[in-house]
Amino acid sequence: MANSVLAQYCSERGETTLEPVRVGVIGCGNISGIYLRNLQTSSRLEVVACADIDMERAYARGNEFGVAACTVEELLADESIELVVNLTVPKAHAEVALAALEAGKSVYNEKPLAVELADGARILEEAERRGLLVGCAPDTFLGAGLQTCRKLVDDGWIGEPVGATAFMMSPGHEGWHPNPAFYYEVGGGPLFDMGPYYLTALVSIMGPIARVTGSARATFPFRTITSAPRYGERVKVETPTHVTGLMEFATGAIGTIITSFDVWGANLPYLEIYGTEGSLSLPDPNHFKGPVRVRRAHASEWHEIPLTHGYPENSRGLGVVDMAIALREGGAHRASGQLAYHVLDVMHAILRAAEEGRHITVDSTCERPEPMPIHSPRSGSEPWIRV
Ligand SMILES: NC(=O)c1ccc[n+]([C@@H]2O[C@H](COP(=O)([O-])OP(=O)(O)OC[C@H]3O[C@@H](n4cnc5c(N)ncnc54)[C@H](O)[C@@H]3O)[C@@H](O)[C@H]2O)c1
Repeated sequence: MANSVLAQYCSERGETTLEPVRVGVIGCGNISGIYLRNLQTSSRLEVVACADIDMERAYARGNEFGVAACTVEELLADESIELVVNLTVPKAHAEVALAALEAGKSVYNEKPLAVELADGARILEEAERRGLLVGCAPDTFLGAGLQTCRKLVDDGWIGEPVGATAFMMSPGHEGWHPNPAFYYEVGGGPLFDMGPYYLTALVSIMGPIARVTGSARATFPFRTITSAPRYGERVKVETPTHVTGLMEFATGAIGTIITSFDVWGANLPYLEIYGTEGSLSLPDPNHFKGPVRVRRAHASEWHEIPLTHGYPENSRGLGVVDMAIALREGGAHRASGQLAYHVLDVMHAILRAAEEGRHITVDSTCERPEPMPIHSPRSGSEPWIRV
């Protein structure tokens, strides 16, 4: 039951007499529906407005969720709004986030944090200067599947991580997304679009990445949209669509990532971590649950592990609630700007390494976010079902 998800997070944290954080959502496209649905269930938040450069979209979502629709300028001018949830397309993330910060509001961006690394840095600097918070998707790593994996690694079930693999192979989004052009613009592509799920999962479990190299190509110069309403339109491809990266974690573990919009089918796992005492198979990091399997040293088969944590269902917005709690009570929040900036830095470094044909040292680093509390009840009835 997705509509009770964030209510549950609030009740686990205990009742509060503190005022809910007033939220404005900017960007009323495809992904805004699940955010608006989930955010409205949280007692820590009050969603008061939604805006879009396309006012029709703002009115449509506003009507659907009973939220006032307004222009971006009106939303930013509303002094009662403390937190902007920025669900615009990637190339607008930085501009909208900086405008929110300049208006004195904390901001939670959809991924990636920004397209350009320098813009990501400006967002963090501006927030620091103003004493505001920055958060960023994905928050799937806070869900039941990846938190179970985090606990297994922290508890030593696979020993010291030696290596990891991450595979996201697909034929692209033009067959289903109503407005897929941005996936082929600079700042789109499989690495910037899907890489944040895989890299955030790995960094949250294995810690920061110190050095990378990579190779990249764009196989098709144009893509043809086969979804409604832009069926038949051709989109120019401006970014690599098949990217392979090698990543050396600060701990010395070595990871491999392939992200692709150029592959019709593959038989590869989503994510695996290989340790000195065993191997861990992780669920799809684009979801909050999925099978978690361990194969211990000398074992002849894999064993599925029951999920230990809460939030198996589509809990997009969990990171926003965690951030709202940090705004009211202080302390760190998990889906943080620092984590997202490090992931952005790693993605840029892989593409730069591919262009320049060399290894690149990753300048940024981050702390592993705190694990979610183990006592979170499972709010879904069947957390083992593969999504
Ligand atoms: N669609 C998904 O399944 C999905 C899943 C996870 C994350 N995301 C991420 O969510 C973000 C949005 O994706 P989407 O699929 O909803 O895209 P979308 O194109 O459906 O919606 C984006 C909306 O942002 C608006 N917008 C663009 N620039 C703006 C600006 N400067 N100011 C105000 N509004 C602006 C557009 O008019 C549009 O309504 C992207 O960063 C994407 O990576 C999407």
